[in-house]
Amino acid sequence: MRFRIAVLAGDGVGPEVTAEAVKVMEAVGRRFGHAFDVSTAKVGGAAIDEFGTPLPDETMALCQETDAVLFGAVGGPKWDDPKAKARPEDGILAIRKGLGVFANLRPVKVYAALINSSPIKPKVLEGVDMIVVRELTGGLYFSRPKRRWTTARGRRGVDTLRYTEQEIERILRVGFDLARGRRKHLTSVDKANVMESSRLWREVAVEVSADYPDVELEHMLADNAAMQLIRNPAHFDVVVADNTFGDILSDEASVLSGSMGMLPSASVAGLKTASKRGRRSVSLYEPIHGTAPDIAGKGIANPIGAILSVAMLLRHSLQLVEEATAVEESVEGVLAEGYRTADIASDGGDLVGTSRMGDVIAGRV
Ligand code: IPM
Ligand code: MG
Repeated sequence: MRFRIAVLAGDGVGPEVTAEAVKVMEAVGRRFGHAFDVSTAKVGGAAIDEFGTPLPDETMALCQETDAVLFGAVGGPKWDDPKAKARPEDGILAIRKGLGVFANLRPVKVYAALINSSPIKPKVLEGVDMIVVRELTGGLYFSRPKRRWTTARGRRGVDTLRYTEQEIERILRVGFDLARGRRKHLTSVDKANVMESSRLWREVAVEVSADYPDVELEHMLADNAAMQLIRNPAHFDVVVADNTFGDILSDEASVLSGSMGMLPSASVAGLKTASKRGRRSVSLYEPIHGTAPDIAGKGIANPIGAILSVAMLLRHSLQLVEEATAVEESVEGVLAEGYRTADIASDGGDLVGTSRMGDVIAGRV
């Protein structure tokens, strides 16, 4: 089969890790007889430098006409001036909104080989296997008003947290559907003790749960969830959270797997690929880590988050289940053999750079 993939590498370590992910994708193509037509485009700071905008029209157009988008990371000190008109991060936010990918799936897995790389005690990590489902196109990130201004009594800033019941319902349905295929437990995260939008969230969660009598619904306040994720992570199966809580809790959860560099994510417009109006929807795949400016360009970043994002892409967008599994097994095998990038090397092992890690994983495919 032939597939068209857009690769938006972005800034910092983005180009380094996506190069390895593409390497692994090509190995999958050779082994299973597929052709991946890869087109690249600028996004984030790289696009600001060249086009003056973090998301040029051509980049968005490319995303819309491909089968899936593989994304690196955006941002960096060079573009961090708070007064700047264009911010790299607006590039990824606009792509998410433009593609309508309202559900961000962030699976958290603990690899036996890495159990000592996590700062958390091995005993606590036993049985950890969860997926964080983050709402991605609403809430505090997108609601208006959102602005800064100056008054006679000083500066003001406002962001707005608004959710419609439809937005809440569709993200919860993604969570419930996923829970059905897993351990049938769903934790809905909110701050219903403080926020109106959270009280609506909780109300809708209870209503939706009526359609899923086989799934156990639990409500958890976000601050408590932050604590329980570290205290008793094996408790969680599917965690559904709004845009902001999901952002924070998924970074926290990544510590369980030993490093942020390990975790992939998929951003989708629902679990079925066909969207309403009969139009196909394009999904977006990216490691959850950022641009890591401190190590960018050194060839030492961990490409596994990006490589596992390719596995998610193969499975969810291209329905290539066997191929996806081959990538995941290669990663597992290479870790078991002792290959380690710097971020996961605390337990010793064979220290390798970004490109070598990509080679050994591609080689095993
Ligand atoms: C993430 C990142 C982004 C977010 C930034 C880069 C805008 O932290 O994907 O989790 O906050 O969504
Ligand atoms: Mg984040």
